[in-house]
Amino acid sequence: MTASTPAVSAEGLVKAFAGHRAVDGVDLVVEAGTVFGVLGPNGAGKTRCHL
Ligand SMILES: Nc1ncnc2c1ncn2[C@@H]1O[C@H](COP(=O)(O)OP(=O)(O)OP(=O)(O)O)[C@@H](O)[C@H]1O
Ligand SMILES: [Mg+2]
Repeated sequence: MTASTPAVSAEGLVKAFAGHRAVDGVDLVVEAGTVFGVLGPNGAGKTRCHL
């Protein structure tokens, strides 16, 4: 098997607004050709995870 390069890769992703950490250290790897979903309640940081 050959190693593939991920379509998306993030380590320790942070998005902060005036000291408020909307996204606080997210690690993720999305392989090409796959479907990846982010689930969570309102305000959890799903939209701010977008790279
Ligand atoms: N431009 C901004 N300035 C300040 N705070 C923000 C800003 N955008 C988002 N936030 C805050 O960051 C946090 C995460 O917001 P985000 O929009 O990522 O949530 P979400 O999971 O996408 O919510 P929803 O399900 O309602 O779409 C929330 O506390 C929100 O109030
Ligand atoms: Mg959103």
